[in-house]
Amino acid sequence: MWIVLLLLVWLPLDARTLVTGGAGFLGSHLCERLIAEGHEVICLDNLYTGSLDNIDHLLSHPRFTFIQQDICMLFDDDLEVDEIYNLACPASPEWYQKDPIQTLRTSVIGALNVLELAKRCDAKIFQASTSEVYGDPLEHPQQENHWGHVNPIGIRSCYDEGKRCAETLFFDFHRFHDVKIKVGRIFNTYGPRMSTGDGRVVSNFIVQALDNQPITLYGTGRQTRSFCYVDDLIDAIVLFMKTDNSITGPLNLGNPHEFTVKELADLVLEKTSSPSTVIYLPLPQDDPKRRQPDLTLTESTLGWKPRIQLAEGLDRTISYFQSIRFLSINP
Ligand SMILES: NC(=O)c1ccc[n+]([C@@H]2O[C@H](COP(=O)([O-])OP(=O)(O)OC[C@H]3O[C@@H](n4cnc5c(N)ncnc54)[C@H](O)[C@@H]3O)[C@@H](O)[C@H]2O)c1
Repeated sequence: MWIVLLLLVWLPLDARTLVTGGAGFLGSHLCERLIAEGHEVICLDNLYTGSLDNIDHLLSHPRFTFIQQDICMLFDDDLEVDEIYNLACPASPEWYQKDPIQTLRTSVIGALNVLELAKRCDAKIFQASTSEVYGDPLEHPQQENHWGHVNPIGIRSCYDEGKRCAETLFFDFHRFHDVKIKVGRIFNTYGPRMSTGDGRVVSNFIVQALDNQPITLYGTGRQTRSFCYVDDLIDAIVLFMKTDNSITGPLNLGNPHEFTVKELADLVLEKTSSPSTVIYLPLPQDDPKRRQPDLTLTESTLGWKPRIQLAEGLDRTISYFQSIRFLSINP
């Protein structure tokens, strides 16, 4: 009896939680975690880059609902939620550059819509912002007080400026309407359920290595990135949402261990025992040269730091890509 009462106090049982972009890579892991924590989850996605395969195992769960809708459309007037995680937006350059105007619409109009909903429902709201708000950064590693170095008219601007504008909207809704916001700047995250063909560096290298195709390396390969495993990131996002209302962020969310892209390629080749060679292609326009989160503020605010290092995370991710490859060969 006491145990039941304690559980009732601890768990936000049936908190109604909206996850936009919930059928995507990160969103599907987040939905899974929230269901495990007792939330009632409404996953809203237009399936632009996401897939029902990512949430197939959740579709029949009694506390899970899927709504196929564009975040730019107005929400039903009777939609009531306690928490919102706003993840809807294509995240890979290949996809966000396909229709840059739609990317901006999703980032800005989408943010406006979820913020209006948060205001009406008095709901807490998390924004999946990005390290891209720092552009090609002038400081290294990047702290949250760095204003960024972003080209406003380049081919990546639809994403970078869209996310920057969304952050502005979040802080203005907080200042003007007391909306309870949590802004997380996510750095390069990888893991199972990344899409195979979306051009992101980790999935690209793994798929190329498993297919014995040449690994395509852009530029000299000396540009650096830091890679966070998805489980660590989801831990951080969920912890952030549980913080006091006075904590708004922005907070850097990622793994600070820095690798050159060439080092990543070599590690993938070693782990997959692939005979693939490496070929060098020109660096895309405005590609940032260095990226590494300074986690001082995040660690002191959330008491969190990433636990899974690249070698272990790559093992898990390679196993996933091997399993879906096996399924596509033996359906
Ligand atoms: N994965 C990363 O490394 C990373 C880094 C920084 C920021 N982020 C942010 O995290 C969020 C999720 O990224 P991801 O890696 O899971 O990408 P993803 O492309 O796998 O997921 C995005 C999801 O949003 C959906 N979506 C896109 N436009 C939409 C719209 N107009 N209406 C409704 N749904 C829409 C897609 O169908 C997809 O399911 C994005 O906002 C992204 O900007 C991700």
